[in-house]
Amino acid sequence: MGSHTFGYFVSILTIVLTSNCSYCVKYEPNWDSLDSRPLPTWYDEGKIGIFLHWGIFSVPSFGSEWFWISWEQGSKKIEAYMKKNYKPDFTYQDFAPDFTVDLFNPNDWADLFQDAGAKYVVLTTKHHEGFTNWPSNHSFSWNAMDVGPKRDLSKAIPELYELVNNYQPDVIWSDGAVGADTYWKSPEFLAWLYNDSPVKDTVVVNDRWGNNTSCKHGGFLSCSDRYNPGKLQKRKWENAFTIDMNSWGHRRDAVLSQLLTMEEIMAQLVSTISCGGNVLINVGPTKDGRIVPIFEERLRDLGAWLKLNGEAIYSTRPWTYQNDTVTPHVWYTAKKSSQGGLSVYATLLRWPDPGNLFLGSPTPTSSTRVTLLGYEGKLNWSQASTAQGINVNIPLIPFNRMPCKYAWVLKFDNLA
Ligand SMILES: *[C@@H]1O[C@H](CO)[C@@H](O)[C@H](O)[C@H]1NC(C)=O
Ligand SMILES: *[C@@H]1O[C@H](CO)[C@@H](O)[C@H](O)[C@H]1NC(C)=O
Ligand SMILES: *[C@@H]1O[C@H](CO)[C@@H](O)[C@H](O)[C@H]1NC(C)=O
Ligand SMILES: *[C@@H]1O[C@H](CO)[C@@H](O)[C@H](O)[C@H]1NC(C)=O
Ligand SMILES: *[C@@H]1O[C@H](CO)[C@@H](O)[C@H](O)[C@H]1NC(C)=O
Ligand SMILES: *[C@@H]1O[C@H](CO)[C@@H](O)[C@H](O)[C@H]1NC(C)=O
Repeated sequence: MGSHTFGYFVSILTIVLTSNCSYCVKYEPNWDSLDSRPLPTWYDEGKIGIFLHWGIFSVPSFGSEWFWISWEQGSKKIEAYMKKNYKPDFTYQDFAPDFTVDLFNPNDWADLFQDAGAKYVVLTTKHHEGFTNWPSNHSFSWNAMDVGPKRDLSKAIPELYELVNNYQPDVIWSDGAVGADTYWKSPEFLAWLYNDSPVKDTVVVNDRWGNNTSCKHGGFLSCSDRYNPGKLQKRKWENAFTIDMNSWGHRRDAVLSQLLTMEEIMAQLVSTISCGGNVLINVGPTKDGRIVPIFEERLRDLGAWLKLNGEAIYSTRPWTYQNDTVTPHVWYTAKKSSQGGLSVYATLLRWPDPGNLFLGSPTPTSSTRVTLLGYEGKLNWSQASTAQGINVNIPLIPFNRMPCKYAWVLKFDNLA
């Protein structure tokens, strides 16, 4: 075929593609129109993101990332700390030169987050204190950003356009709850983002774009911090939680008992994914650009679990039941199997006693197959005396042969 024919073919293909595609839709700067945009599928499939709060607050790294506002509001704890350690005229801005990031290696971070099983990263380019603090010489390979201006609102929107054009983020996670829709013109920004920006086909945004938008309007719903409703939601949502229970930014005054354990992180992960959410797991890097080893350990433990059990998490969708109707601490997800049927995954947050484990939600058929991820061979099962439910025979597995720690996945094929 000559090049002429080829050119003709391409132009027909273009027509076919544009006749049913997102490119044809023009979003208008109102919530009805903006909310009608389908979320790019990569986001729901990815399930797990890392959230990084990093800024001038990482320099004092004391109390929380709200150091400045707490100090302004007369926090006794912060006043005493400042009085003891700094000259009387020291201001919050004087911390800025110490935000040295001298040990920051973006490749190490990217390796760690990939190892943790995360599919996206959201980092503060700007926190409520108003500093745009991303060190521009270091480009981070996973584009994403978080914006949260409570100050300089007239400044925020031009900066947003600039950031999108320069960094082409995949996620824009706004924390501008009050006043944003009127002062910022967020609907106009989002219409531009969805229609004309360089990331219009891939970008996802959250819901904190103005007075009454949280939990209602935008892309996915982030609602409140640590949002985890425990039941299936109509729209895609995200559970943003922090491993340090008291702070999103790094703080040197954290003690071990204030950090989430792996069991607690797994419970958040599994319950969230079962109910249709994504998790956005926060760590606070240090002022010099490190992620301290205790957070690194949590993230690597998570990654090791996902390496074995990721098929029960990534690209899954909620099943008919989110948690078991009878047995506590059991959460379900589902996915089309390679044979075309449906695989149902039950993640057990407690290791059951050997013998029969009764699960109330699955209904077996004569061809039902039950496996334990990471354990060779099939598990025996029997019909329960009830119409619904199944008894799974949990084998006695020596401790050193357990497939993993923290949570265990039963996979069901050919259920009714
Ligand atoms: C366009 O695509 C959607 C989703 O794939 C489909 O449901 C719809 O029927 C298509 N419309 C036309 C006109 O082909
Ligand atoms: C960026 O790099 C240049 C050249 O190495 C240096 O002069 C400048 O201070 C750096 N800027 C930042 C924000 O680190
Ligand atoms: C948003 O909330 C702020 C503060 O409560 C108020 O001043 C402003 O009028 C509100 N705007 C809209 C559009 O409701
Ligand atoms: C949200 O909207 C309701 C009415 O729809 C209004 O009464 C309320 O003041 C709004 N909230 C804010 C913070 O503006
Ligand atoms: C299932 O989850 C819901 C919501 O978290 C909870 O109220 C219910 O008790 C759970 N069911 C069992 C059997 O634990
Ligand atoms: C399943 O049952 C058979 C027959 O009782 C037994 O030999 C086998 O060990 C059982 N398998 C497991 C994984 O429990």
